[in-house]
Amino acid sequence: MSTGTSAGICPYASGDPAPAVPVRAVPGQVPYRVDRHEAERFIRQFHDERPGAGDDVRSRLREVLTEVDRTGTYTHSPAELAFGARVAWRNAARCIGRLYWRSLVVRDLRHLTSADDVAAASFEHLRLAGNGGRIRPVITVFAPDRPGRPGPRIVNDQLVRYAGHRTPEGAWRGDPRSAPLTALARDLGWKRDEEPFQVLPLMVRERPDVRPEWYELPDDAVREVPLSHPDHGWFARLGLRWYAVPAISDMTLEIGGVRYPAAPFNGWYMGTEIGARNLADAERYDLLPVVADRLGLDRSSERTLWRDRALVELNVAVLHSFQEAGVTMADHHTESQRFLRHIAQEGRHGRETPADWSWIVPPVSGSATPVFHRYYDPVDPSLRPAFLART
Ligand code: ARG
Repeated sequence: MSTGTSAGICPYASGDPAPAVPVRAVPGQVPYRVDRHEAERFIRQFHDERPGAGDDVRSRLREVLTEVDRTGTYTHSPAELAFGARVAWRNAARCIGRLYWRSLVVRDLRHLTSADDVAAASFEHLRLAGNGGRIRPVITVFAPDRPGRPGPRIVNDQLVRYAGHRTPEGAWRGDPRSAPLTALARDLGWKRDEEPFQVLPLMVRERPDVRPEWYELPDDAVREVPLSHPDHGWFARLGLRWYAVPAISDMTLEIGGVRYPAAPFNGWYMGTEIGARNLADAERYDLLPVVADRLGLDRSSERTLWRDRALVELNVAVLHSFQEAGVTMADHHTESQRFLRHIAQEGRHGRETPADWSWIVPPVSGSATPVFHRYYDPVDPSLRPAFLART
């Protein structure tokens, strides 16, 4: 359902939530082997971009390829893993927030495979990333897939998500986007309530073919911001809120042919992701009519632009509230300028910045931001390292 107008810093989460993980990765059934060519391409890139990183490239290549031939896979050094994860971010064509790709904090937890450990470390991820409001971009890398031994999977599309379901009267309660996840959580025994912002449990599969374990998120791991408006007292009484840390958890990190299916990562929010999409889309919280009515706008004709005016006020409220709460959030004007700086900086290193215009341009006021008025280097789907949609 990905739409051409999605925007946001890294709005990967527009696909359908957590499709069933293919059962073909059952241990012993599929001899998933690392592609030697991909391994070599990555090791060479690592050495090209980090001259003097020790270890000459030929001896490392020999080591890696021998390991691949013998075991079907190989083990990244901690430096290779960190570099690979950062470059995967740099390569993310839909992400407007890539200026800071070098600062990504990489947590190397490749030794963890059990559902309990993945859940506990994911909660710690949220605490580290939340950092008392000064959001840090963090990725946590769990065990990779290996031949005959797939790694763990997080079922949720983000570590924090609000449940959603339809009431018997047919109205939506909560986030409709999460209806499938909500139904799955209930099947597993989780209790849903009628609150519009109820945080879903984290569901983790130790292997792709087993049923998920579920874990309630600890309160201290989930920072949320209640929404208010600088000029309208009634806004706070709508009881709206959003969480502080968008942490994508359903994408596979692929580095040098090795796949890490559980590698949750986060940046900070750009206001429009919440104010112009999550709370505004008709298929999400659908709040434009509510906000327009409180603003006293005339909804009898589209030509009054009540939608547009409500959108702006909703976005003012989101930015204002995060600021008040001391939680990092970018506005779309500033983030657009940073993205153009990023492109220029990459150019000075002789690199292109592939980008998807329809994801980069913000969903409100597109033409008022500089990212609207240009084209970008084309997206090459074979670019690696990369974050890939889970198949
Ligand atoms: N657009 C998604 C959401 O609203 C989050 C995608 C990642 N965004 C980010 N700023 N890193 O939840």
